[in-house]
Amino acid sequence: MNVVDVTTEGRVGVLTLNRPGALNALNMQMLDEITVALDRFEADPRIGAVLVRGSARAFSAGADIKESQPRRFPQVFVENWQAGWSRVADCRLPMVAAVNGYALGGGCELAMSCDLVIAGQTAKFGQPEVTLGVIPGMGGTQRLTRAVGKAKAADLLMTARMMDADEAERAGLVSRIVPDAQVDDTAMAAAQTIAGFGRTTMQLLKETLNAAFETPLAEGLRVEKLAFHSCFATPEQAEGMAAFAAKRAANFHHE
Ligand code: CAA
Repeated sequence: MNVVDVTTEGRVGVLTLNRPGALNALNMQMLDEITVALDRFEADPRIGAVLVRGSARAFSAGADIKESQPRRFPQVFVENWQAGWSRVADCRLPMVAAVNGYALGGGCELAMSCDLVIAGQTAKFGQPEVTLGVIPGMGGTQRLTRAVGKAKAADLLMTARMMDADEAERAGLVSRIVPDAQVDDTAMAAAQTIAGFGRTTMQLLKETLNAAFETPLAEGLRVEKLAFHSCFATPEQAEGMAAFAAKRAANFHHE
């Protein structure tokens, strides 16, 4: 069964994350399906923008913790695990994220990998990885810091608190806030507007926009990936993810 619904509407390619039972947690199957769809959209001259959306309850609650729990450092490091998600940020078409509900961990990172973020009034953003004994591994330490500045990024990354849509917009993470019920339509209208302009123009624009944002990002991402993989060598990761699976509070201090 597919976990991403792939459709088109006019010149917009639409990816709808569809794992409602897991709050659209991002597993490897989802990455595979997104990668195939983005390849297809990029190769299709009739597509001028991509819309990514989740459900009313969750855009995505992050990387799939159940899939992450058994992993250990040598494996994740050698495989360069989660590196494939850079495919989203590397997409050459403009991307619009329509965010309702939770955008946490990898979900927040997925939204930040898009160009525009249209959020519902009750959307919630956060990077709660430390509660699991790990750090973000899909660009969060770099993209969040560049988007909202070091002080707020440190607050979110280190305390694991969520921020609401208003705070996220004030901080520069969100392009526009609209009532929850209007998120999909507003994001689709923005995507259709973008797709209505020249495709080459838009691709050149995206490249330059990203260059302003990303120049020394590659180095930061390399450092982040190494640190993220290293988390899987720690007892904190084992404890944090086991606690989540057992629906109990994590105890990181066994001394
Ligand atoms: N991975 C796997 N399953 C998840 C999940 C995740 N990230 N988030 C939620 N789920 C599952 C829950 O286990 C639960 O499944 P069951 O019904 O089978 O038990 C289902 O989705 C519904 O979740 P809850 O019952 O927890 O719903 P809630 O409304 O009580 O809480 C929530 C919502 C606050 C978002 C809570 O689900 C939560 O804290 N989720 C985890 C958020 C998180 O820590 N994300 C970071 C992941 S790590 C990461 O992303 C690393 C990286 O950078 C690559």
